[in-house]
Amino acid sequence: MVEWTKKHILEIKDLTRQEMEVVFNLASSFKEVSQREVKKTPALRGKTVVNLFFENSTRTRTSFELAAKRLSADVLNFSSSTSSISKGESVVDTIKNLESYHPDILIIRIDTSACLKNFLNYTKASIINAGDGKNEHPTQALLDMFTVKEVKGKLENLNVLIVGDIMHSRVCRSNIFGFQKFSSKVRVCGPPAFIPFEFEKLGVDVFYDLDKAIEEVDVIIMLRIQRERQNLAYFSTLREYVENFSLTPQRLKRAKRDCIVMHPGPVNWDVEISSTLKDELHPLILKQVENGLAIRMAVLYLVGAEKRERKTLRK
Ligand code: NCD
Repeated sequence: MVEWTKKHILEIKDLTRQEMEVVFNLASSFKEVSQREVKKTPALRGKTVVNLFFENSTRTRTSFELAAKRLSADVLNFSSSTSSISKGESVVDTIKNLESYHPDILIIRIDTSACLKNFLNYTKASIINAGDGKNEHPTQALLDMFTVKEVKGKLENLNVLIVGDIMHSRVCRSNIFGFQKFSSKVRVCGPPAFIPFEFEKLGVDVFYDLDKAIEEVDVIIMLRIQRERQNLAYFSTLREYVENFSLTPQRLKRAKRDCIVMHPGPVNWDVEISSTLKDELHPLILKQVENGLAIRMAVLYLVGAEKRERKTLRK
């Protein structure tokens, strides 16, 4: 029997290894629901879930929406381009207004790092972080780890390499905290301007040469250059970046034979990964999307289920 007591999912940093395992076990059962002819369960019937996206998203928003619907919740979608945010209404005012509908879960994506705790003062709902600036993207790390667990059969003692725009990536930070809790080692690789010194304090090994970084790794996570969070002066030309950090068939040959490659999406083929690898690598990247739905069903269920139920979840 495992106790689940968390009301919010704000950061992977807050979750224990046991709690992550609860999420993975539940996600496995929810994958089965998605294969049924009637892909719905009544777990969150009568609950209201609000998708509050102040930043663009395709996969994360759609999978949270579908996850909530498959659990029979009522879902409200809010995105800043179609809302009063574009008329100057503040984020806090928006949350206060939505509170009038008594929502049960707010799923928030926002460009300000680590700001979600402040919003707890304005809502009684559970908050799930769907990506806050450069800080964390906990459900992406959970789905990445769940995918690794499915393919590799374990999460312990692996060598995980994260490549690209390390500095601006919330996916990178959440994966570092997550994999480290399973005693896996994380290395990061990218141009020096993309790896701030504080990353060494996170207990990761830093590489600037992808050909070296790739040796002996079990898992590679390729990241997109987050152009929306920087100006392009960080590296002289895109061509130079591609030459040094794009995953090519030649580079991949240097990795272990059973090494897997993932990407949180959206992928810019021929920037992060050579399109000649698309046939080989795209299926697992799409599997991540499929697993994202199951992981989001699991976290919605865990934070949304009645307290009584939460406490008696079977492992
Ligand atoms: C990531 C994000 O938004 O942080 N994408 C995602 O959630 N699937 C990574 C990215 O945008 O590159």
